[in-house]
This record gives sequence, structure tokens and C-alpha cells, in this order.
Amino acid sequence: MLALRLLCGAVLLDLAQACPKRCDCSQKYGFQSADCAYRDLEAVPPGFPANVTTLSLSANKLPALPEGAFQEVPLLKSLWLAHNQIRWVAAGALASLGHLKTLDLSHNLISDFSWGDLHNLSALELLKLDSNELTSVPRDAFRGLRALRSLQLNHNRLHTLADGTLAPLTALSHLQINDNPFDCNCGLMWFKTWALTTAVSIPEQNNITCVSPHLLKGTPLSRLLPLPCSAPAVQLTYQPSQEGAELQPGFVLALHCDVDGQPAPQLHWHIQTPSGTVEIASPNVGADGRALPGALPASGRPRFQAFANGSLLIPDFGKLEEGTYSCLATNELGSAERSVSVALASPGEAGEVALGRRFPAKGAEAKGCYTVDNEVQPSGPEDNVVIIYLSRAGSPEAGGPVGEGGLGRPPPGLLLLGQSLLVLLFLTSF
Ligand SMILES: *[C@@H]1O[C@H](CO)[C@@H](O)[C@H](O)[C@H]1NC(C)=O
Ligand SMILES: *[C@@H]1O[C@H](CO)[C@@H](O)[C@H](O)[C@H]1NC(C)=O
Ligand SMILES: *[C@@H]1O[C@H](CO)[C@@H](O)[C@H](O)[C@H]1NC(C)=O
Ligand SMILES: *[C@@H]1O[C@H](CO)[C@@H](O)[C@H](O)[C@H]1NC(C)=O
Repeated sequence: MLALRLLCGAVLLDLAQACPKRCDCSQKYGFQSADCAYRDLEAVPPGFPANVTTLSLSANKLPALPEGAFQEVPLLKSLWLAHNQIRWVAAGALASLGHLKTLDLSHNLISDFSWGDLHNLSALELLKLDSNELTSVPRDAFRGLRALRSLQLNHNRLHTLADGTLAPLTALSHLQINDNPFDCNCGLMWFKTWALTTAVSIPEQNNITCVSPHLLKGTPLSRLLPLPCSAPAVQLTYQPSQEGAELQPGFVLALHCDVDGQPAPQLHWHIQTPSGTVEIASPNVGADGRALPGALPASGRPRFQAFANGSLLIPDFGKLEEGTYSCLATNELGSAERSVSVALASPGEAGEVALGRRFPAKGAEAKGCYTVDNEVQPSGPEDNVVIIYLSRAGSPEAGGPVGEGGLGRPPPGLLLLGQSLLVLLFLTSF
């Protein structure tokens, strides 16, 4: 019994004095702190008392912070890591520090940071990430930082900051973001406006400058003239479109995505056919309709030809090309999308029936049948235009059992040959 007591005493004594050899652990003002600054450390040493709340590892030679680097000290409130050589902070290095109020990672070489870990640091009040090599901040990086009062991101390599990034920081009162190589384009204009109107103190405002475009190099963001910026707006038009027109077989369906927006939006086509989905970054062909070098598929004339002017041509339109065609336009300020569904009706089949057969949900909810002009302007994102091309001669289902019934059934690609087509237009809203 005496032996056991001695043993326990020894363990307690050991715990009380636990401290990595090269650090000083002490109690100051009732706080347990560990001072490991200026020790030439190349890794976080093991052996801290579990109740340490302040840990300084400043001015060492730590190259990185691996996952679980601080799992011994879950009660940390202040963590000082400035002036090391940290290049990356692994996911899971900081997430367990739910009590952390102060985190100083300034004056390192961090380019790879575990932004996701910040979501867990809901007690954090001061975050110093200045003088690092950060090139971007994810839009949701600060999602969980309800208590953050001071954020320092100055002297990094940030080119931009997405609108909404700072929105979760409802307690913020101090922001330093000067001396970053900002691209002063439409995507950053929100920040200029925000900085001029916010109650958050932003020192060194004249050092928040543009590095590009070239003409604006060195100009403080606050002195930029307003740029003409607008989010994309899209109209989808198509040809042929005259109701009742007699059309030649094998006709070319031309969709045109008419886009507004500043800067000029990027176009993308998303095509959903019964046999699968096709994604096309526009353009995929030159003005001559031939595939651009590097575009996929690399065939001479692609089945779907997306031109730089916004047109999408579908030569030899047939059953295999039935489906929903969506044009998506994106720029720094947002994106917009319009879709048109295209179906072929069999002889004697009413438009609504073909609609229901091809797009079950749309057929059931179709409100009626309208003729519209060449110009289609769905009134909102809920509206969708459906075009039905009616084939006059027999037009068996594509994908039916091939060869059944002997020689009678031509391959689907040839189905339109020798047939004339009638165009019906349906405008549905659902
Ligand atoms: C931390 O724990 C040690 C022993 O484990 C104890 O001696 C010390 O008083 C504790 N410090 C604080 C601030 O509670
Ligand atoms: C996040 O913090 C909570 C408590 O603050 C903790 O229970 C949880 O384990 C932490 N998550 C991680 C990944 O450590
Ligand atoms: C502001 O920019 C100037 C010129 O680049 C530089 O000399 C100065 O150190 C910067 N100030 C701060 C606080 O970074
Ligand atoms: C776009 O270019 C293609 C190929 O040059 C042409 O066929 C098409 O008519 C053009 N579209 C518009 C709307 O001018």
C-alpha cells in the first residue's frame, strides 16, 4: 500500500513537472504556459502538460504543421508560431483547438493552409496570417469565425477576394489586407465598395493596391474609378422556327446563345440526350466548323459545333439529338443559364404527347401550346422552351431493337432522310 502511494505520488509529481526538455513551462496569473521560442526547434516537441493554455513556438525552424500537431494540448487559448519556416499546415493540425482565441502564424512561408480547420475555431478572436505566401482564400474560409475581431492577411500573394468571404465575420473590427498583388477587375469591385463603407478599421488603405491590369498598377483600390461590370444575362434563340414551315430532311438545328455581361462571359453548353450527357466548353470549332486543336472530341466536324459567336449548330438533327440544350454563361460576377428542350414527334402524334413521351414531367405540366417568334425569352429561370419538330413520314423510335422485322428499319441516323418536317413550338412554364 505504501509502495502504491509512493508510485502515485511519483506519477503526480511527474505530471506536474511535465514539460518538453527544451521548453519552459510555468504558471503565470493562474494560466499554464509553455515557452519554446528561440529554441531552433524543427518539430513541435512532445510532453506538454495537458492543461497548457498558452504555447509559444515563435522563432524556431518548424517546416510544417502536420495533422494532430497540437493534440496534446486541447485547451490552448493562445498559440504563437510566428517567424518559423512553415510552408504547409495539414488538414487536422488545428481543428481540435476549439478554445483557441489567438493564433499567430505570421512571417512564415505558408502557401498551403488548412482553411477547413478554421471552421472549428469558433472561439478565435485574433488570426494573424500576414507575411506568408497565400495566393487565395476560399470563399467559405471564415464560415465558423463568429468571434473573430482581428484578421491580418497583409503581405501575401492574394490576387482577389470573393464577394461574401468576409460576411460571416460579424464581430470583425480590424482588417489588414494591404500589400497583396490584387487584380483590380470586376470581381474585386465589391471589396472597394465594402472597404469605403464598413465600420471595420482597415489600416494602410493606401497600400491596398492593384498589380494588374497593367494600366492600374500601383493604384490604391480606394481610388479606382467604377468599372462597368455586370453579371451575365443570356437569351436563347433558335432556327428554324417558323410554325408549319416545310423543312428539308437532315436539317441543321441552330441554337444561339446571346450573352451580355462585363467582362465577357465564358460559354458552356450542357447537352442531355437519351444516350448521355455532353459538356462543351465553347468554342470547340473554328469559324469553318472544324474542331479546334485540343478540343474534344478531336474529330474533323464535331456532332455539336459550338462557335465562338455563341451559336451551336447540330447538323443532321435526328432522334439521337433529342434532348435538353443548356447554355451557361459565367464571369467573375456570376452566371446565368437558359435551356431549350427539343423533341421529334411521330406522324399523327400531338405535340403534347410527344412532349410527354420525351420529357415526362414537362408533358404532364405543359400549360398549352403557343407559337412564338424566333426570339425566345423565358420570363424566369423556371420557364423552359420546348421545341417539337414533327416528322411527317414514319419515324420509328431510336434505340428500338435493331434488326427486328428484317431489313425494314434503317439505322437511327438515317431516319430523317426522305422525310419532310413540320415545326411546332411549345412554350411551357413549370
Ligand atoms: C496544470 O496541471 C498541473 C499538474 O498536472 C498542475 O500542477 C497545475 O497547477 C495546473 N495548472 C493550472 C493553471 O491549472
Ligand atoms: C471541433 O471542435 C469540437 C469542440 O470544440 C470538437 O468536439 C471536435 O472534435 C473538433 N473537430 C475536430 C476535427 O477536431
Ligand atoms: C506600403 O507600401 C510602400 C511602398 O510599396 C512600402 O514601402 C511600405 O512599407 C508599405 N507599408 C506597409 C505598412 O506595408
Ligand atoms: C456564328 O458563326 C457561324 C459560323 O460562322 C454561323 O453559321 C452563325 O450564323 C453565326 N451566328 C450568328 C448569330 O451570327
